[in-house]
Order: sequence, then structure tokens, then C-alpha cells
Amino acid sequence: MKILVIGSGGRENALAWKLKQSPKVTGLFAAPGNPGTKDIATNVPLNSQREIIEWLKQNRMDLVVVGPDNYLADGIVDEIQNLGIKVFGPTKLASEIEWSKSYAKDLMKEIGIPTASFETFTDFEKALEYVKQNKFPTVIKASGLALGKGVIIAENFDEAEKALREIMTDKVFGEAGDEVVIEEYLMGREISTHAFCDGETVVMFPSSQDHKRIFEGDQGPNTGGMGTIAPVPWVTEQHIEDIKIQIVIPLIQALKKRGREFKGLLFPGIMITETGPKVIEFNARFGDPETESYMRILEGDLVDILLSCVDGTLKDTAINWSKQSAATVICASGGYPGSYEKGKEIIGLDKITDNDVVVFHCGTKLIQDKLVTNGGRVLAVTAVGDTVSDALAKSYKAIEGITFEGMQYRKDIGQKSI
Ligand code: AMP
Ligand code: GLY
Repeated sequence: MKILVIGSGGRENALAWKLKQSPKVTGLFAAPGNPGTKDIATNVPLNSQREIIEWLKQNRMDLVVVGPDNYLADGIVDEIQNLGIKVFGPTKLASEIEWSKSYAKDLMKEIGIPTASFETFTDFEKALEYVKQNKFPTVIKASGLALGKGVIIAENFDEAEKALREIMTDKVFGEAGDEVVIEEYLMGREISTHAFCDGETVVMFPSSQDHKRIFEGDQGPNTGGMGTIAPVPWVTEQHIEDIKIQIVIPLIQALKKRGREFKGLLFPGIMITETGPKVIEFNARFGDPETESYMRILEGDLVDILLSCVDGTLKDTAINWSKQSAATVICASGGYPGSYEKGKEIIGLDKITDNDVVVFHCGTKLIQDKLVTNGGRVLAVTAVGDTVSDALAKSYKAIEGITFEGMQYRKDIGQKSI
């Protein structure tokens, strides 16, 4: 089989790494990929939906796997389906649960999925009026896609006003801020959950946990994610079952009823509260860096699993997970998630000898034969071990040998859960 993975981050490197292990794969391509996928796949320099579609007309693939959310929102899945090619990922309408937070919130309210109470606004003055009467902290979100940065937790009225002004008037997130969702602050412990979906059947992954803030102790601004563990030691099978029954199945059924059959990867961000799990947001794609940890403990053939989601045969497909645990620590550029420099030489990857460690590339680039930084998140250093602590120790040990100018990473990944 010939497979194309769309995207260029750590998530896509991890997916390609896992797909490469399948004996069914005769050709593996990444568009545009990165220096990490270059060693396991053929990188094709395609940087827009148009370029990808034109390439697919010339290069017959048996399966396309879509990584990033913006392609889903732009309807790449619909276009690939129209070419008669199998594609893993939801259609534009099915992925609206991610690209419109207001759509997702309205749907959850309508069908009774537990989530923070909320109001949506398109008018700045009305939004301001509403927060005046609100309890703090309160959560203000740009409704559209904003690279995981469009969420502000306002501790008081001044912070709320500033956030509303930035999102709605100054448009710091562009048109993602035409509408805002203002919602109740949920107290609890946050986890990431993933489910394979074929439109009807859902199969839950073990739990994972991201660390979104840039600094230790969950301080500082939100990032795309600074590290993950999987599974999360305190999350029980009952938690996952509750999330499946109360959240994932009702959502999948509701989408099907509305003609938006969801095939692909559903990623509910969940707060485990005193009164049970509540949805923070839905993503319609694999998490990054959740996927980097998950691919290290998923057993079996990922090709079979992805095809069963596309073909609607997930209920007949066995999905198994290793008894081991996985950890991912992100090495990021100095300054991220604010502005940062690129082009810093990365040293030390060749010195890693531990077979339990795999480094996926996020934002890297080869200039001649020199590997340099090319993004905010640069490397995802993953490891497996008998426990989360074991896996983390191996990741951190590997990081000791890696350097680039300005490199920053959180030293407390997983600590709040072990
Ligand atoms: P989101 O992009 O919606 O996942 O939000 C980014 C982060 O903000 C989440 O991962 C949470 O840590 C936090 N967050 C979002 N909504 C809430 C909420 N209602 N209550 C508490 N924290 C939240
Ligand atoms: N790690 C969070 C996300 O992928 O949205």
C-alpha cells in the first residue's frame, strides 16, 4: 500500500514512524514532512491543499492520513474523497466540532454532553457587559482555530476586558475572534482522551496528559503542548468508560443523525471534576504531543486500524496497547510561545543509545547536512518504560545530551500525576 501523511510536525513524524512498521506499506510519503520523516518516508514539498490535491491526481495513494486541523477545516478530506481515494480524517462538516467552538458548545448543550456553562458573543460591548456580572476566574475563547493559543483565563475584570479587546477588536487571532465563547472556569484535573471512530463504533485510547503551559508548575502562557504521559496513573478504566458513555458515543450518534458522520480521530480534552468528566474542547485530529506518546505504546498494525475507521469495520478490529507507559518531553526554542529565532544548530541526537528512546522531529530543518531549529517546538523526546516515572527518566536522560542555543524544556512533565 502507498500512504501519504499530511503535515510536518512531531505528530506526523510519530504517525509515519508507526505506519512504517506495517508490512503492508510499500510506499510512505510525507507532505511536506520534516527531517524526522525523511529517514522513514519520502518527503514531498507540498505546502497547500491545492498542491496536495494536484499531486494526488498524479500519484495514486491507497490511503491519506491528515494530521493538522487547518486542513480538516478547509475540507481537504472532502476533496480527497472526491478523488476516490481513502482518507483518514473527518469531513469539513464533521470537523466543525473543532473549528467552531460555538458550534461545539451549542451541540453539547442540545444533546446534554457535560461541559462548562457558556455564552457566545459577536458584539464586544455585550461581551463586556456579560463579564461584568461574571464570577472570576472566567474563560474567554476565540471561537475559531487559533493554534491552541486563543484561550485566556481571566482572573479579574481588567484581564477579561483586555482579552476581549485583543480578540474582538484588535483581532490578534484574525477571524477566529469574530465570535467569542465566555465560559465557566472548570476546577479539576485535565486529561487528553482519544478515540478511533468509524462513524458508528468508537474505540477509546488509554488516557494521556498534556502540559500546555510553557513553564514548570503550569505557569506562563499556553503553548501547543510541552510534554505528555500515557497512560495517566490516576485515571481509571471507569473514568474512560464514563467519557465514552457520557461524551463520545452521544457525540458520534448526534453527528451521524445530522449527516456529519465522524470518521477519524476524536480528541476530547476533558476536565475530571468533582461531578465527573466535562468537555473542555473537542479536537477532530490526533493531539500533538499526545500522539508522540501514544504511538510508542500502540501495538499492532496502524494501517489496519486507520483503514477500519475509513471502511466502517472498526468493531471487527482488535486494538491493543502495550503494558508499558510512555513519556514525551518537548524541547522548544527560547522565546516560544512568543517570538523566537530559527536556524540554531541541533547537536547530540546521534549520541542517544537507549533503544527505548525515540526522538521525533517537530520544527527542524536540514541545511546542507546540518540539522537546525525551524519552529517553536523543535523535538519530541519520547521513551517507554515499565512505569511513567521510568519512561520520564529515560526521556530526561536523553535530553541531557541534546543542545541548541536557547533550548528550553519543562523539567516537571508528569510530576503532577505520579
Ligand atoms: P482549549 O484550547 O479550549 O483546550 O483551552 C486551552 C486550555 O485552557 C485548556 O487545555 C485548559 O487548560 C484551559 N481551559 C479551557 N477551558 C477551560 C475551562 N472552562 N475551565 C478551566 N480551564 C480551561
Ligand atoms: N496537545 C494539544 C493539542 O494537540 O491540541
